[in-house]
Amino acid sequence: MKYNGYAYIYTIGCQMNVYDSEKLALILNSYGFKKTNDMDKADIVVCNTCSIRHKAEEKAFSFLGRFAKIKKKNPHLITVMAGCVAQQEGEKAFERIPHLDIVLGTQAFSRFGQHIDAIKSGVQRVVDTKDCQMIYEAMPDASCFDENKISGFVTIMQGCDNYCTYCVVPYVRGRERSRKPESIMEEISLLATSGVKEITLLGQNVNSYGQKEAQMSFPELLARINKIDGIHRIRFATSHPKDLSINLIYAIRDLDKVCNHLHLPVQSGSNKILKKMNRGYTREEYIDRILTLKKECPNIALSTDIIVGFPSETDNDFNDTMNLLREIEFDSIFAFAYSDRSSAPAAKFSDQIDEKEKRERLNNLLQLQEQYTEKKNKELIGETFKVLVEGKSIKKRGGFEQTHKNMEQMTGRTESNKIVHFPSEHVNIGDIIKIKIKNAYRHSLWGHPVGV
Ligand code: SAH
Ligand code: SF4
Ligand code: F3S
Repeated sequence: MKYNGYAYIYTIGCQMNVYDSEKLALILNSYGFKKTNDMDKADIVVCNTCSIRHKAEEKAFSFLGRFAKIKKKNPHLITVMAGCVAQQEGEKAFERIPHLDIVLGTQAFSRFGQHIDAIKSGVQRVVDTKDCQMIYEAMPDASCFDENKISGFVTIMQGCDNYCTYCVVPYVRGRERSRKPESIMEEISLLATSGVKEITLLGQNVNSYGQKEAQMSFPELLARINKIDGIHRIRFATSHPKDLSINLIYAIRDLDKVCNHLHLPVQSGSNKILKKMNRGYTREEYIDRILTLKKECPNIALSTDIIVGFPSETDNDFNDTMNLLREIEFDSIFAFAYSDRSSAPAAKFSDQIDEKEKRERLNNLLQLQEQYTEKKNKELIGETFKVLVEGKSIKKRGGFEQTHKNMEQMTGRTESNKIVHFPSEHVNIGDIIKIKIKNAYRHSLWGHPVGV
């Protein structure tokens, strides 16, 4: 049935959730609900949730909890918990949020429409945490989405089979499965036609794309996407160190549209902890792969994820991680304090680390990394890079405004994923222009357009 009304979608979590929310918006649109940024106007409110850490989960409950009062005033409002927390909680979600209408698990999106119909026809509560083997093949296309979008996500895989002992993903996203290459190519071509210049391919472990299905490998998929007209940049996340093949390294080196940036989560620098995490590689193997990568792609920018305070992590183990940062000199890191997830095996491990200790380690690690992030950025001063223009700079930098008083400040990214601010001279969002780097800070670069 087609309705008239507005949908408000609140997204928590990773890039895959951002992509999923776009799909939810398209489904809602096909049911007659237009997207709104004004919550008060909404006839349906969807929270697309994340359960990776306790804090993310709490954010979802507190957001949805707020609607108890609002629903008293407007009983026709439909509230939906979608995504990873929904999958994890199922029926239990109603214990904390009794006014919830729909609990939509991670594999239930294609059935969302029929659940809205059910609620509209008077059904009280719907829970759908059932499986679905298909990955977006049967979903509405992405062609008509945001017209001004220059960068888009495309999910190429679902689930994970790696079972890292701290992680909920295999339990909330199911077994690893790869989307059909034709379906991926079709979506990227549609995005290119609508003006998208850069795509980021998403999956929990994109390196193992197609392996289970014995279909096209990830480097082969990259080569195919590299040929799509209109797409200028290809990014992907996340890569698992144990599956970083030499063919993928060659693909990064040889395919002109594949960006010279790799996000390769290491999680810890201690072999003892890596083993307990079930990561499937040692510190030495990780370093070895990075060395091969740097040999083949000397200008590659590297980023990683780190967990501190995993059960039984001693000062020595933590120092191994600190030393790994010193040795590799990542361009940037994402670091997290270990968060106990009851569905993941590590919740039962002994020697859980005190919260205060975790915070201290996290702060020390982040402080150490700041030096390297700044150092890596400073090394780029004097060089010229192609920058994809993303929009106006939100934060104005006082000093530079003095020298370029009459000009707008724009922002964009290098291929290596560094943010660059620059004074604008008639550039448009989506342009790719050359910028000479004049100055570098911890989180951004400053430069001037060359030859404009
Ligand atoms: N599939 C990716 C990452 C998925 S989750 C990979 O394998 O690297 C994103 C990041 O969240 C992880 O890399 C990890 O650093 C962090 N993370 C996952 N579970 C966590 C937990 N229980 N506590 C703290 N951080 C966690
Ligand atoms: Fe989680 Fe590990 Fe899978 Fe990444 S590889 S999603 S950390 S289980
Ligand atoms: Fe969170 Fe689910 Fe992504 S748990 S990190 S939203 S896969």
